[in-house]
Amino acid sequence: MTTSPQLARRILFLTTPQSYRTAAFVEAAKRLEIETLLAVDLPKQLAEEWKHRLGVDFHRPEDAAAQIANALAERPVDAILSLDDTGSLAAAAASHRLGLPHNAPAAAEAARNKLVMRKMLRAGGVASPRFQDFLTTDDLEQVADRVDASIGYPCVVKPVDLNGSRGVIRANERAEFLAAARRLLHMIGVEPARPFLVESYIPGVEVALEGILDNGRLQVLALFDKPDPLDGPFFEETIYVTPSRLPAATQQAIATCTADAAHALGLHMGPIHAELRVNEEGPWIVEIAGRSIGGLCSRTLRFGVDASLEELILRQACGLPIESLTREDNAGGVMMIPIPGPGILRSVRGVEEASAVAGIESVEITARLHNTLVPLPEGESYLGFIFARGETADAVEASLRAAHACLQFGIEEEIPLWG
Ligand SMILES: Nc1ncnc2c1ncn2[C@@H]1O[C@H](COP(=O)(O)OP(=O)(O)O)[C@@H](O)[C@H]1O
Ligand SMILES: [Mg+2]
Repeated sequence: MTTSPQLARRILFLTTPQSYRTAAFVEAAKRLEIETLLAVDLPKQLAEEWKHRLGVDFHRPEDAAAQIANALAERPVDAILSLDDTGSLAAAAASHRLGLPHNAPAAAEAARNKLVMRKMLRAGGVASPRFQDFLTTDDLEQVADRVDASIGYPCVVKPVDLNGSRGVIRANERAEFLAAARRLLHMIGVEPARPFLVESYIPGVEVALEGILDNGRLQVLALFDKPDPLDGPFFEETIYVTPSRLPAATQQAIATCTADAAHALGLHMGPIHAELRVNEEGPWIVEIAGRSIGGLCSRTLRFGVDASLEELILRQACGLPIESLTREDNAGGVMMIPIPGPGILRSVRGVEEASAVAGIESVEITARLHNTLVPLPEGESYLGFIFARGETADAVEASLRAAHACLQFGIEEEIPLWG
């Protein structure tokens, strides 16, 4: 990797039309004067209609890689970066073709398929839940027999390739397990046969670690506490606050466990986002992904003088010098505003009051009025986000809770089918 700052840099982002992350990365590239090219997961013709230069199919990584190599023949780039999990295989394949540094395709696959991940973590001896995989077409009573015998309760049912806690359900005994499994199958479909996971439930507090890998070495950028209990049966994310208030030794153990997990998956470069649970036995990996934290949430982080997380990631990817990997002195946090129940969102009140709460940087309602809200485990979105900054993590958490208390959502029940 060269580090001469005077050379013009160019980067290709792989992204999806609906990605929350694109804007933050494009903005960061602008600030760093890195020229940006976008490849979007869209059929070629549609991409052109939408004025994108390059539409590729992320589900066919080798074809996408060939197309990308072709498109870049005259305009070489310094790096190819997939902004979320869907493009990571295509990014690895294209980087391989063009001789750019990249994670092995097998590592990229492990970081986005929970079954492959569990197998590799187990093989690498990394603390993670016991698990058993089944097929959607398996007989559920027989599945339950095996769960009784090999996993026990409480357990967690989960799909292998969704995110945002969709389809993740805790069950405390056999009848609950059967109901949870039926609910998951209803979501993901029975045919064609696909794998799903059942895991032992790991009790404890949960944290999220944001890091960057350089030559296999993990640099922790931020550790977030998730102070709201995540005990199930569904696991809706709410508050993230950094810096973590856990003891230094625990934070160190979390970093070591995450580095071991990255190593077990074969991830050695680029951003990682890991989720762990911590109990008296130590940290356990819930999951680790080869990407950064969800787009809007990264706004809670500032590094060095005033660099965003995306700027650090781009500097590393393009071989530009990185001045500081140290997070600012202030504490920061975000609340993903939970959906209280199903229905149609008719009104949102209190945004001004919430924004005026001390420490609040912004309140963004992303749910659209008159649209149906679908809570977990089937749903996939939040009502919006509240961002806060303050001197301490406690102050930030208090600001987020106070702001949330100002918000009132008018949710109307859907009209019952039979009047
Ligand atoms: N084995 C487990 N034990 C305890 N909690 C779990 C387990 N698996 C998942 N969870 C909870 O469910 C949440 C979502 O699960 P995760 O595997 O991270 O899927 P997703 O990709 O949808 O985020 C986790 O953040 C955690 O709170
Ligand atoms: Mg997760």
